[in-house]
Amino acid sequence: MQTPGIDHHSGINLGVPPVTYGQGDRPPRGNYAAARPDYTCDQDWAAYTEQDHDLYRRLYERQAAQLPELACEEFIEAVQQLGAHDRIPRFDELSERLYRRTRWEVVAVPGLIPEEAFFKLLAERRFPVTHWIRRPEEFDYVVEPDVFHDLFGHVPLLFNPVFADYMQAYGEGGLKASRLDACELLARLYWYTVEFGLIRTPQGVRAYGAGILSSAGELRYSVRSPQPSRVPFGVERIMRTRYKIDTYQATYFVIDSFQQLFDATAPDFAPIYAAVRAQPPIEAGTVLPDETRIPPAAA
Ligand code: PHE
Ligand code: CO
Repeated sequence: MQTPGIDHHSGINLGVPPVTYGQGDRPPRGNYAAARPDYTCDQDWAAYTEQDHDLYRRLYERQAAQLPELACEEFIEAVQQLGAHDRIPRFDELSERLYRRTRWEVVAVPGLIPEEAFFKLLAERRFPVTHWIRRPEEFDYVVEPDVFHDLFGHVPLLFNPVFADYMQAYGEGGLKASRLDACELLARLYWYTVEFGLIRTPQGVRAYGAGILSSAGELRYSVRSPQPSRVPFGVERIMRTRYKIDTYQATYFVIDSFQQLFDATAPDFAPIYAAVRAQPPIEAGTVLPDETRIPPAAA
């Protein structure tokens, strides 16, 4: 096997090792050899085909149609900031708008990147966005995050000042968790908030997590289905809870506001990691005896 990221003609390291998801029997799609040491690369906007742009437009339209009844207000308001949706946005133009609002930028990456590199970028208020788009036959489901998931799912809330600060704090917290060997616990917090979080509103629960907002089917399921458990957000509770990567979630955690999320995660996690490690994990789907189930939103 070739060493990834090494140019075998010159022997010069041109990039970084690729990162795979799950069992890793599929080769990663991105060109990691073209990435810089911090894992960022060029978006190469001119390389997108008409088919790529068309696919983005169709994905965008399918999700946008569901937002009014299923997404939180903050997301609906901010999604317009992504700009024209008939083409894949140019990251440089988007970054300019974003920087003016919250001092965040988006940067291109070849795909999934290692934890440390990811945390570092977040701590610097640079959000890594995969630059390639899924294949047309993956319209309904794609295993690895692509440009649609990363942009449509994650970038709108970076325009929200409180959420933007939470993401930076998470990056700093990640660097600290690496030193404390607690990345697995911290990853659960990311999963159940940034990716699959629900928020309480006067109209019932609504989605703010990128994984559900960019999903064709899970968006409605997470907000409306009577099947999954919905329980109040809690840092320790989340860190104890396992999650599913290959089906819809069995549990969603519900926050009251982004300020609650920011404030609840501000304390030092070192003692919390220790407390979590001393307790057994909780399986996805479990509702604890002292917890109140939060009902799905009414249609
Ligand atoms: N307060 C956390 C710590 O001390 C850092 C953090 C903030 C983690 C926000 C996640 C989200 O580790
Ligand atoms: Co994501």
